[in-house]
Amino acid sequence: MHLHKYEKIWLVFGIASLIVFLSVVGVSAFSHDHTPSGGMDTIDPEKVNETAPFDNPGVSQLDDDTYQVTIVAMAFGYNAPEMKVPAGKEIIFKVTSTDVVHSFTIDNTKVNMMVVPGQITTKSYTFEKPGKYLILCNEYCGTGHHMMSSEIEVY
Ligand code: CUA
Repeated sequence: MHLHKYEKIWLVFGIASLIVFLSVVGVSAFSHDHTPSGGMDTIDPEKVNETAPFDNPGVSQLDDDTYQVTIVAMAFGYNAPEMKVPAGKEIIFKVTSTDVVHSFTIDNTKVNMMVVPGQITTKSYTFEKPGKYLILCNEYCGTGHHMMSSEIEVY
């Protein structure tokens, strides 16, 4: 096979740029000790229902200003009865999945978590305004993906 001189130059340039870019990303990630957003906690996805705090999903109050909401995501819904939390307090969401990758996304907020089986994803958020907020899954997770939604009430 014969390669034109310019083709060779661009091939070398392309491959060299790729190596440089990937090295920059890799070295900076390791040197800054990057972790996946949402934390590094793991869980056995087959034992979610027996593992605290997921054995008792829902809202719990940690102290005067902090609440925790524990949610189990599965095809095609979220298991967390009665999601009602106060405005102006720190809400810590802890989510995991029992099957495939989902998301836990609260409309009109900065809560947009990827929910991965085997991993516990954590996100802290403070609601400013009371109201009902739509919760959606935005990772395609199967035939019922479009029906996967819920609601959280902020009072
Ligand atoms: Cu769960 Cu899409």
